Amino acid sequence: TTLGASAAARDGRFFGTAVAASRLSDTAYTTILDREFNAVTPENEMKIDATEPNQNQFTYTNAERIVTHARGLGMQVRGHTLAWHSQQPGWMQSLSGTALRNAMLNHVTQVATHFRGQVTWWDVVNEAFSDNGDGSRRDSNLQRTGNDWIEAAFRAARTADPDAKLCYNDYNTDNWSSAKTQAVYRMVQDFKSRGVPIDCVGLQSHFTGGSSYPSNYRTTLSSFAALGVDVHITELDITNAPTAAYTNVTNDCLAVARCKGITVWGIRDSDSWRSGESPLLFTSSGGKKAAYTSVLTALNNG
Ligand code: G3I
Repeated sequence: TTLGASAAARDGRFFGTAVAASRLSDTAYTTILDREFNAVTPENEMKIDATEPNQNQFTYTNAERIVTHARGLGMQVRGHTLAWHSQQPGWMQSLSGTALRNAMLNHVTQVATHFRGQVTWWDVVNEAFSDNGDGSRRDSNLQRTGNDWIEAAFRAARTADPDAKLCYNDYNTDNWSSAKTQAVYRMVQDFKSRGVPIDCVGLQSHFTGGSSYPSNYRTTLSSFAALGVDVHITELDITNAPTAAYTNVTNDCLAVARCKGITVWGIRDSDSWRSGESPLLFTSSGGKKAAYTSVLTALNNG
């Protein structure tokens, strides 16, 4: 069997991968993609700089290549990402205040409307919390438009694509006892209590080795789920792909009913944003690594 089929057999979970449009002409790549996965996340092609390189001029060619490829094979698509402090085109970086707030909301509305009905989950807002250990918001031009920028983005996304699941996505939110995890938890709790539309939380899960996978990861997943949102592991990669850590992450997701799936951040090690660390499930030549077998075994038996 395959990662996607085995995940689907576990209460309809997904097993996805980040996909780069530039690699869709590489048949070694698409052979694995088409065989193994039932969900995709465009790695860069739906980001703000890619979709709105000039203000109010939207370009969807590369994003659509991925969406068309995936949907043609029945795979679900995760839209990544509508609002983010990073990968902003120059025109957006130079805006502030009301002009930036309106530009951000227009971007959310335009992109979510364009792909309405084709995207299962949107990463509406990405990486809005700081790593400084006090649970504060990350300083950014978006944050300086007012603390309510995140909920404004979620409301705009809901209006534009009412049937999509709307997610908040971040990294270093794996350890339940970290201030950043707690801060994201409190935001989601607040959104749920006030009726701000949010359906899911993405834990990126870029682990720098087996030791950086926290033993309370399952508690983090189940705690978010208890707020009434789905949880997704959205960008999984682990330095040197240790089999134990990959097994544990998979079993943790399977143990939480609202952990609806896992996405790895690339297919082969050579496709990874940190290819020097061999963090993925396939070798650079497309062979299945030991971690692949660990994940598949956990999906089938865990
Ligand atoms: O495509 C251009 C190429 O034409 C140019 O010659 C080259 C020179 O720098 O750049 C290429 O674009 C690069 C792009 O990846 C495609 O390879 C960008 O510079 C580079 O910044 C970009 O990096 C991406 C990064 O996000 C940008 O923030 C990575 O591929 C992507 O894996 C990474 O993904 C992020 C998630 O979106 C959010 N979570 C963290 C994760 C890892 O950083």
